[in-house]
Amino acid sequence: MSADAFPNDRHRPRYHFLPPRNWMNDPNGLIHWRGRYHLFYQHNPFGAFWGTMHWGHAVSADLVHWAHLPIALAPDPDGPDADGCFSGCAIDHNGVPTLLYTGVRGDHQLPCLATSADDDLLTWTKHPGNPVIAAPPAELATTMYRDHSAWREGGEWRQIVGAGIAGVGGAALLYRSDDLRTWEYLHPLVVETEAMSNADRPTVGWECPDVFRLGDRWALVACFWDGEPISVSYLTGELVDERFVPAYQGIVDAGECFYAPQSFADEQGRRVMFGWLREARPVAAQIAAGWSGVMSLPRVVSLRPDGTLAFAPAPEVAVLRGHRVSVPGSDVAPGADVPLDGIAGDALELQVAFAAGGTDVVGVEVRRANHGAEVTRVLYDPTRSTLSLDTRHASTDPEVSGGLYAAQAELAADEAVRLRVFVDRSVVEVFLNDRVAISGRVYPTLPDSLGVRVVGALAGPVDAWAMHDA
Ligand code: FRU
Repeated sequence: MSADAFPNDRHRPRYHFLPPRNWMNDPNGLIHWRGRYHLFYQHNPFGAFWGTMHWGHAVSADLVHWAHLPIALAPDPDGPDADGCFSGCAIDHNGVPTLLYTGVRGDHQLPCLATSADDDLLTWTKHPGNPVIAAPPAELATTMYRDHSAWREGGEWRQIVGAGIAGVGGAALLYRSDDLRTWEYLHPLVVETEAMSNADRPTVGWECPDVFRLGDRWALVACFWDGEPISVSYLTGELVDERFVPAYQGIVDAGECFYAPQSFADEQGRRVMFGWLREARPVAAQIAAGWSGVMSLPRVVSLRPDGTLAFAPAPEVAVLRGHRVSVPGSDVAPGADVPLDGIAGDALELQVAFAAGGTDVVGVEVRRANHGAEVTRVLYDPTRSTLSLDTRHASTDPEVSGGLYAAQAELAADEAVRLRVFVDRSVVEVFLNDRVAISGRVYPTLPDSLGVRVVGALAGPVDAWAMHDA
């Protein structure tokens, strides 16, 4: 991957995936095919703004280094996707790589199918019978209907489509099929309940629902949407009579920029997730930059015994590590920057730990200017069991507002607070104890906004790695 088109752009990430230029949103069609990872994504090849949705495409042997490939899906002026190829998933249908995506034509957003006959997944043939579902279920007052997730159920296929139902909110609508081309509507797999909703902002619908089995449970990830992204929740529970019975609800990533994640099972059987890290600066700034949208690092999703999901950076991310410094806790002075021995403060991984059972707020500050005029804070508050990311003072640019984002994060009494923080120019991704994630976008303007400081008493060294470009 190369960031060459933007050599002087100090906000453009260096080791997170993004297209060579222009707009990107959701990850789509994630699949591990013949030993290689394929990442498709919502892409506008004509500008750094949302519009004319295509599927961009990249391939990787290691989940971390990506090669850009030609666009995989483009709108067909005469087809049901004339106005856009929206999000969808990839599945292996008896050895045939198959995409289910949303074709947009005028007011219609309907499921479409495409298959590939080449092992590199470069060319895709759209099914002549598209759309494969002619309309949303007539018995439901749907207010939105798009995005797909599919799985095998014995010899059959199941698919869910994200939806909004008037007076209800979000839903995932369940269909069955033998051949992926003819679908029978069954019923909602699950609908939003009052307990799931965010009372401040009623949901219009769920975008990008993602269903998968994990251990002995089922999980469903849903993107709450009201015309704008609200948040990304997950449910874990069981399927009973083809209905999702949630036992637990949690947040996938408490940062406002993380949206529309998609996961897939790789050839090792791991559940790997990518999410779109939206920009947090005005559209005009995105257009002026010539690019918009970044992919999160790959995250391995696992089920914990209490029914919660854990999100940890994929171990492969460590291949990006270059020069390492390990600064003993005794060399870290309060109120002074951690001496990072030449590691650039805008492209690094940091690991710090604080003792279990403390009551003080602990954490790190990154992208910190000398006098603190710009700073991004990552804090764990043990008394409130919250992990927070504060980007309100990350930038002095008046057009960039930032926010304070917090995740509920209960730790066991004997559990240390271990933070891993990935800084990549305008991206900050934080993981607490390899299970709770918060990410954000920051746009510092000062050349010295590169400092790292520690908040609280360390229980070990500060480990930092310079990260290689991906
Ligand atoms: C989510 C989303 C999807 C849709 C796609 C369009 O970000 O709005 O619901 O398929 O993006 O680009």
